[in-house]
Amino acid sequence: MANNTPALDQTRVRVLISADEVAKRVRELAEQISADYAGRTPLVVGILKGSWIFLADLVRQLTVPVYIDFLTVSSYGASTKSSGIVKIVMDLKCPLEGRDVLVVEDILDSGLTLRYIMRHLELRKPKSLKLCVLMDKPARRQVEIKPDYLGFTVPDKFVVGYGADFAEAFRNLPYIGYIEVPGK
Ligand code: IMP
Ligand code: MG
Repeated sequence: MANNTPALDQTRVRVLISADEVAKRVRELAEQISADYAGRTPLVVGILKGSWIFLADLVRQLTVPVYIDFLTVSSYGASTKSSGIVKIVMDLKCPLEGRDVLVVEDILDSGLTLRYIMRHLELRKPKSLKLCVLMDKPARRQVEIKPDYLGFTVPDKFVVGYGADFAEAFRNLPYIGYIEVPGK
């Protein structure tokens, strides 16, 4: 893989949201979620791979007990446009029936991926099903979907860092940045 991935040239990345701003917003979201779920034990479902850093920071700030599970989907491949075709690569281990489920994802873009995921999870009869996304790019929305908890609204740029990737690169950046993608 290392030989045919784009150069991990971090000088291509411009900072959009600093690590401090991200941390502050994640704390605020955790407070809001903790208040809303007081007295309950939600099942937090992270969508891999984009959500893992956000989820890891978020759950450590929650004051309610949680269960955590992950769902791996493939949407873009190495391209930067959503195909609308979502494949479940690794399913959840936990049953959802009767549980308070909170889905955590990195980016809401066209909305196709999350609409598919939310409809699919709804079929498993959770008691409640909510959505928490770190970033929303409303400029590119193709279907009606709104997060219950949102970190940041971002401009129509290709964002990377804090879990979000470009062809698997840049996920580990501690801030949210953007890159110019040719042909986008
Ligand atoms: P959607 O189906 O177009 O809403 O795409 C959602 C998924 O595409 C997100 O979960 C991201 O993983 C990925 N994605 C969308 N926009 C970006 C971006 O700007 N940077 C990195 N990944 C993105
Ligand atoms: Mg993703």
